[in-house]
Amino acid sequence: MIPMSLRDVAVLTAGSLHPDGPGTAEVVVDGPVVTDSREVAAGSLYVARVGEHADGHHFVAAARDRGAVAALTSHPVDELPCVVVDDVQTAFGRLARGVLDRCPGLRVVAVTGSSGKTSTKDLLEQVLGSAGETVAPVGSLNGEVGVPLTVCRVTGATRFLVVEMGARGIGHLAYLTSIAPPDVSVVLNVGLAHVGEFGSRENVARAKGELVEALAADGVAVLNADDPAVAAMAGRTTARVLTVGVAEPADVTATEVALDHLGRASFTLNGFGRSLPLRLQVSGAHQVANALAVVAAAVECGMGVEQAVTALASAGPTSRWRMEVTERDDGVTIVNDAYNANPDSMRAALLSLRAIADAADPPRRTWAVLGEMLELGADSRTEHETLGRLAVELGVDRLLVVGEGARPVAEGASRAEGASRADRAATRWVPDADTAYELLTKQLTTGDVVVLKSSRDAGLRWLGDRLVGREVAS
Ligand SMILES: Nc1ncnc2c1ncn2[C@@H]1O[C@H](COP(=O)(O)OP(=O)(O)OP(=O)(O)O)[C@@H](O)[C@H]1O
Ligand SMILES: [Mg+2]
Repeated sequence: MIPMSLRDVAVLTAGSLHPDGPGTAEVVVDGPVVTDSREVAAGSLYVARVGEHADGHHFVAAARDRGAVAALTSHPVDELPCVVVDDVQTAFGRLARGVLDRCPGLRVVAVTGSSGKTSTKDLLEQVLGSAGETVAPVGSLNGEVGVPLTVCRVTGATRFLVVEMGARGIGHLAYLTSIAPPDVSVVLNVGLAHVGEFGSRENVARAKGELVEALAADGVAVLNADDPAVAAMAGRTTARVLTVGVAEPADVTATEVALDHLGRASFTLNGFGRSLPLRLQVSGAHQVANALAVVAAAVECGMGVEQAVTALASAGPTSRWRMEVTERDDGVTIVNDAYNANPDSMRAALLSLRAIADAADPPRRTWAVLGEMLELGADSRTEHETLGRLAVELGVDRLLVVGEGARPVAEGASRAEGASRADRAATRWVPDADTAYELLTKQLTTGDVVVLKSSRDAGLRWLGDRLVGREVAS
C-alpha cells in the first residue's frame, strides 16, 4: 500500500485510535493490507474481519508476530496499535477508496459478467502490464473483501488497476464501485450463474448494469454487443460506449475466427481504424469475446491498438482449471475446465471440445465428463437436462455424468430428440469421481479428447489433475 499513518487510516475510516495518543497516530503502515494473518508481512495493517468461520480478532497476536504494525478492529485490542471502527467491512472499503483517491493518475478498469471475469482479468493484467505497472486481483478475488484487498495493493508507481467485480445480488456492484470507481467498465455477459440467488436473468442484468451506472461522464463502457442484455446497458450510462462483438456489428469485432488443434483462436481484430491478425495462447472460442474486450479496455487506458494486440498475442493462461489443455504422452488430450460451471460456460466448453476434435481429420473421439452446476435455483433440473441434450446435439461420443446432482444430465441426453440407441449407450452415470477415474483409465485411448467440467464444489478439477498425473492438492 502507499505508506499511510494510523492517523490517516483513522480519518479515512472514521475510527478511533487505541491506545489513544501520538505514538499510535504516528505508526506508519507501509506493508500489505491483509485479512489473513498468515499473509502478514513487515509493516502490514491487519484487518480483523468477523467471518463465517472465524473471528479475525483472535489472530491479532499472530499478525503482530509476523510483523504487522497495526490492526483495524471493531473493538480495542492490546496486542497491536489499532484503529477501532463500528464496522470493519465498511471501514475497509473506505480505506481502499482513500488509497485510490490518493492516486489520481491511476486508470481503473472494472470487469464483470456471469462467465469469464477472471479469464479476462488475467489477459488484461498481462496486456496492461506490458505498458506500465499493473495491479490485478490474486486469483478470483472479486467481492467485498477481494476488491478492497486488491485496491490496497496499489503503490505510487502503479499505473493501471484491474478489478474483478462479482455480484450475487442487486446493489453489490454499486457497493464495489463505490470502493473502486471505474474509468473503464467491462461487461462480458449476462448468464445464469448464481441465478438462484438473483431470482431471474432480468435481475442478473439489473445487477450487472450497476457497473456502467457507476461511470462518470468521461468514463467508457465496454459492452458485449453479442449479448442483448449487455448491449441494452448502453442506456444506463452517461459515459461513452464502446461495443465489442463476434456475431453482431460492433466498434471492435473479430472476423475469420478459426480454432487450432488445442482450441486456441486466431482471428482478425477490427477496430480503432485497424485490422490486425491475432492468435491467442489461451483455449476456447469464448476467449475471442474476452480478447476483444481486453483490447478495447487497453486502448481506452491509452495503449496503442497494435501494442495491445501484440501483448495479447503473447498472454498465456495464468489461473488454473480454465480450459487447461494437456496433451498426454499417450496421445490423449485432457481439457480441465472444471473451475466452475453454469449453462453458458458449459456450452462454451462443449463447443471447444467439438472444435479441438474437428481440427483433426478424421475428427477425434470426444468425451465430456460433466458434474453438477450449482446455484441454479428452480431451473436447475431443466438446465441439467438441456445440457445433456446439447451434448448429444453436438455429437459428443462419450458422455460421462458424475455425481447424484448431475444425474439429470444423463436423463436429458437419453431423452434427446434424435438420440439413437448408440447415443444412449454412450452415456454413463457414475456416482463419484473415483469411479469416473477408473472408467476413464480403462477406456481412454490414443486420440481421445476429454473435457471435464462442473461447479467448484462438485470437484471434477481434481479428477482432471489425476488424469494428467498432477499431484492432487488436499
Ligand atoms: N466469455 C465467456 N463466455 C462463456 N464462458 C466463458 C467465458 N470466458 C470464460 N468462460 C468459461 O467460464 C468458466 C469460468 O471462467 P472465469 O473463472 O474466467 O469466470 P469468472 O466470471 O471469473 O467466474 P467466478 O464467478 O467464479 O469468479 C471457465 O470454464 C471459462 O472457460
Ligand atoms: Mg472469477
